[in-house]
Amino acid sequence: MAFQVCVTRELPRPALDFLRSQVQSFRVNPEDRALTPSELAARIQGCDGVVCTLNDRIDASVLDAAPTVKVFANYAVGYNNIDVPEATRRKVAITNTPGVLTDATADLAWALLFAAARRVVEADAFMRRGRFKGWSPMLFLGSDITGRTLGIVGAGRIGTAVGLRAKAFRMRVLYASAARRSEALERETAAQRVALDELLRESDFISVHAPLTDRTFHLIGRPQIEQMKPGAILINTARGPIVDEDALVEALRSRRIAAAGLDVFEDEPAMKPGLADLPNVVVLPHIGSATIGTRTRMAMMAAENLLAVLRGHRPPNLVNPEILTA
Ligand code: GLV
Ligand code: GLV
Repeated sequence: MAFQVCVTRELPRPALDFLRSQVQSFRVNPEDRALTPSELAARIQGCDGVVCTLNDRIDASVLDAAPTVKVFANYAVGYNNIDVPEATRRKVAITNTPGVLTDATADLAWALLFAAARRVVEADAFMRRGRFKGWSPMLFLGSDITGRTLGIVGAGRIGTAVGLRAKAFRMRVLYASAARRSEALERETAAQRVALDELLRESDFISVHAPLTDRTFHLIGRPQIEQMKPGAILINTARGPIVDEDALVEALRSRRIAAAGLDVFEDEPAMKPGLADLPNVVVLPHIGSATIGTRTRMAMMAAENLLAVLRGHRPPNLVNPEILTA
């Protein structure tokens, strides 16, 4: 059959070459920027399948504008950019890329944890400005990591991988997880599953790994930040809106908590006013899965999911299996 496929952003070459070899018509957004909603709706006209990214809002209006599309293969594990119930109602398949980005994202959460705890970015800027005049007993004192308490909010694949790495630093691991127990975490690190309140009160480092849903919006809000230890460090590599960023700016400014490391933002790509002026936050441009190997595997996975749907098979990473039975 003659399939038409549209890819909304340039992706790693091997996956694009593979897709191009498998379908009859193939279009990639040639520009290195996200499409506007109207451009998106226009570009995917007549397509059978779309590989989209977390910048593409796939809502009812986009679904209605492109009734030929049978699958949106999201190039991400998170799919809060897609109105899944609306897609399900129209029997449109939604797929994601779980698993392949777990380690890369967990590694980056640790990079932020180390950078925030040991003031790596601040100290680097100090060096580059030529301000280092010799070793000093009080220069850039940060926080200890080894032996302290790590609190994981959301212990799915990524949260578990972050917690497992804590073993190397002889840390006590707590986790709060609405969805499920993490047996691997409990077995490997003697992690304890606790209520979020207890995790907030007890942890020196708090790392967020929940999906963004109506229930996790501002899960870490003002009252939750209030419960944290004065020296606490908050890491977010999940989704910005899970943390109330205005409340976080205030808490960092007043030193109510020590520091934060953020790879995601509430109004991404914008930062809330004041955030970028604070020395005690490390900010990254949503690069959790950004390694050559990981992004290539994600792209292949998205391509395979898309092709499976077009060929009438069950895709390996179907987010809305209800479409098969409904
Ligand atoms: C990236 O944020 C993802 O969800 O894969
Ligand atoms: C995503 O991969 C998660 O379950 O953490």
